[in-house]
Amino acid sequence: MPHATARVTRALFVATAMVASLLLWASPAGAEDLSGGRLDWGVKESFRNYITGPIAQGSVQTGDGASTANGAYRFHSASGSYDGGTATIDYRGWVYFWGHDGELDVTFANPSVEYSGSSGTLYVYVNGSRTDMASLSGASLSASGGTVSVSGASATLTANGATAFAGYYEAGQALNPVSFSADVVASQPEPEQTTEAATEAPEAEDDTVGGAILDWGVRTSWREYVSGNIAEGSWTVADGAADGGAVFRFPEGAGTATTTDYELSYKGTVAFTGTNVDLAITDPAVTATGGAGVLSAEIDGERIDLVSFEAELTEADDLLLAEAVPTTLTEAAVPVFGGYYQAGDPMDPLTIAVPLTEDAALPVLPDLGSDPDEPTPAASTEPAPAAAADEDGANPLIWIVPAALVLVMGAAAAVIALKRRKRTDPDADEASEPAASAPTSEPTPSETATPAENGQDGPTAPPAESSPEDTEADKEK
Ligand code: HEM
Repeated sequence: MPHATARVTRALFVATAMVASLLLWASPAGAEDLSGGRLDWGVKESFRNYITGPIAQGSVQTGDGASTANGAYRFHSASGSYDGGTATIDYRGWVYFWGHDGELDVTFANPSVEYSGSSGTLYVYVNGSRTDMASLSGASLSASGGTVSVSGASATLTANGATAFAGYYEAGQALNPVSFSADVVASQPEPEQTTEAATEAPEAEDDTVGGAILDWGVRTSWREYVSGNIAEGSWTVADGAADGGAVFRFPEGAGTATTTDYELSYKGTVAFTGTNVDLAITDPAVTATGGAGVLSAEIDGERIDLVSFEAELTEADDLLLAEAVPTTLTEAAVPVFGGYYQAGDPMDPLTIAVPLTEDAALPVLPDLGSDPDEPTPAASTEPAPAAAADEDGANPLIWIVPAALVLVMGAAAAVIALKRRKRTDPDADEASEPAASAPTSEPTPSETATPAENGQDGPTAPPAESSPEDTEADKEK
């Protein structure tokens, strides 16, 4: 019966069209946005030693949220795209090298990477000019658990990169390896804001406040010591504390505050562990009278004054704010750091922000994204799959393809059976084959803004304070 054949043909067409649309949905039809992540690169160890050594007698400074971790400079706040096995990612932060009384004066800022498969390019703004600095190879781009990452790619200097080193290195010379990661933005992202809104409405009637934050990095050389090759350790944050690279953020600050007198208790723990290192700093608090303040925290169940500082809070943009306030170690905290630092030694600056309205925007914390070293349930060291992974890292093709095949095979079996019964029906032989037109189009790379437009070239003056001396001092211990 011709009508039966036409029905089956239509069914086959519908089934194959469904397959095609399912495949279209499952295929990498568009770039995935990346947001939050870190890039670790130590430039070149001999260069770092040369800068702070007896020849250049210089110093190294990091800024715009860049920090030092695991013997490398850590850049932050990734943004970019991942598209069918290619990642294009921009990072933020700068590292400034100064030496020979200012003859050597170079800033590496806002690095970015373009990476496909197991090779790519590292770009860096060198004194404001975007430069292809190094060719990267030898490590696979991994996409799993909602994170795109490369661990320990070899870096070799390009000809353009060599000019940044005044000809002291040649193209092809090995630089320190590069590792980077960035988080895939979930298709239905939470309304996560780059500026965190206040979590609690402060009361206008008295000095009671809530939703305050405290940013403090403890001490740059302490973090370097813990993560360096002496202690070979690391740190973790818990109970609400967040790692911003060069600072830790403690949230939920509550208490009372005027511009000169304030008492704020925060939540969260940062725990440092390593060889002979076991220090957890929990639930810090700041107390100030007449602008003279102390930061304390629970250490092994005891509240200890850690650093003192001078800071009046300034009211601006619905915040009471004290930014980058210098701090010094208290006598009581000397044993906390094993006696390596003396009372009065400079510790990292702190920032206090107290929201005065619900809409007040707190200072932005550099976004390091997920820790690529933390294993996730879907973690994999396999190279990136061609198709986009879903939010949990599972490839949707895993169930779509078998389901689609079942549909097609079912329809095809029906056609064959009908053909056998109705060999004389000419329409049956002209069943179209839309399955052959399954989508093959390549995804279109999305545009990514370059940090040059942000005008972040780093400093032009020598650093007022330098941390490398601290680092050297620690290394001698
Ligand atoms: C007053 C100007 C400078 C003097 C007198 C000077 C001197 C030197 C000397 C003597 C060395 C050899 C160090 C060694 O072999 O241990 C050296 C190495 C080096 N210099 Fe300079 N330099 C100057 C400026 C610069 C500038 C502007 C740069 C640009 C970044 C630079 C980058 C380097 C590099 C990359 C090395 C090799 C470091 C290594 O990996 O061992 N120098 N310099």
